Amino acid sequence: EPSEHLRISVIGAGYLGTAHAVGMAQLGHDVIAMDIEKEKIARLSACELPFFEPGLGELLRKSVEAGRLRFTTEYDDVAEADVHFVCVGTPQLPGSFNADLRWVETAFTELARRVAGPAIIVGKSTVPVGTARRMADVVRHHTGGSRVEVAWNPEFLREGHAVQDTLQPDRLIFGVESQWAEQLLRAVYQPIIEDGCPLVVTDYATAELVKVSANAFLAMKISFINSVAQICEATGAAVLPLAEALGYDDRIGRRFLGPGLGFGGGCLPKDVRALYACATELGLDEVATFIRQIDAINLSRRDRALTLGRDLLGGTYEGKRVCVLGAAFKPNTDDVRDSPALAVAVAAHREGARVAMHDPVAMNSAWLVHPEIEYAETIVTAAREADLVMLLTDWTEFQDMDPALLSNVVRSRNVLDGRNALRPERWRAAGWTYRA
Ligand code: UGA
Repeated sequence: EPSEHLRISVIGAGYLGTAHAVGMAQLGHDVIAMDIEKEKIARLSACELPFFEPGLGELLRKSVEAGRLRFTTEYDDVAEADVHFVCVGTPQLPGSFNADLRWVETAFTELARRVAGPAIIVGKSTVPVGTARRMADVVRHHTGGSRVEVAWNPEFLREGHAVQDTLQPDRLIFGVESQWAEQLLRAVYQPIIEDGCPLVVTDYATAELVKVSANAFLAMKISFINSVAQICEATGAAVLPLAEALGYDDRIGRRFLGPGLGFGGGCLPKDVRALYACATELGLDEVATFIRQIDAINLSRRDRALTLGRDLLGGTYEGKRVCVLGAAFKPNTDDVRDSPALAVAVAAHREGARVAMHDPVAMNSAWLVHPEIEYAETIVTAAREADLVMLLTDWTEFQDMDPALLSNVVRSRNVLDGRNALRPERWRAAGWTYRA
């Protein structure tokens, strides 16, 4: 419990905003979350999550029932809060590598028109460096002499781990311009700081860049191990024990060295591209080339998976039946944004395969964007008469699957493990041709 119960508003009730609003209510604050999408707000008010996230639904209900969390579609309803968190999306602009900042700009402008202060408006959205400074100018322009300050407080939560990442973050970053704003943010996060969470207090630009560089670094680790995986394939070396051996060096660390189909989702690909766009704009050509390759290597993994699949099918997808296991960009989410699994499935379909896909939770979101693919309710029905089974998202239910379950259902026992998630000996012993 914080010593001070603050009035907090959260603008944008998407993935990040909802998790943050629930987290703030759990810390004991009085929270109101706002989104312009009426449908979303209606569902959240009824304690129903508009997306899949383990554990968040129960906390949403608790917060609402305790009277600590409310929802609205009106900016006017949030004007009284002491601290406003802007959690709106910054998707990649179509046809460009830049982020679309229109929602951030709208949120800051609408708040600045209404907030009388004293208050802070805190950006949480992932933005290109320089945005916080511009938003501070917008706020100053609208609020004149009253005390309304801008701060930047990037968020590092992972889908599938939103509750833990919000309530027990690895670190807190405050990009501030005054001690007063820092003190207010400290009051917001007091229970977390008292728990020993590291805190870095810095300027706007650094706070903005921490976020994008963290995601670019994670992406770089994945593209690095995937580059080495290609060298391993060409030389007969084994990338899994290699990655394990690298990981024992704690300067390198074991995590995010999982070779396979590569990264996807709404964050890593977009943030790498935004950092590339930033380096290009700054005229830092070598840096831009370096970052560009992280994305290029990642995308080439999808082609590699397609090629391996084609080889297993004897040279063509035309007229073949392919069972795809996984649609989400990673396990424990129903998010299919920039999903490598979905991209490979769609490409196989375009090459003439009849694709049947199964995913434990992401089938509906996949169907909304790619209705041309068939969706199957179970692993077994997806595999019926298949010439090839492709595992493309590493859900545990796929990893633990008994090959015998599918052996007599498929037409040919070919399996492509796009995530190095299966146990090859097991599949080979059951008469399957296994590639990864
Ligand atoms: C990522 C970051 O991990 C969060 O810290 C950050 O807050 C978030 O983006 C964001 O910017 O909001 P998330 O997009 O949920 O979180 O996904 P990750 O868990 O980072 O996974 C990204 C992708 O990398 C997935 O497609 C996953 O399959 C892939 N991956 C991960 C690998 O291919 N190999 C690995 O070893 C690890």
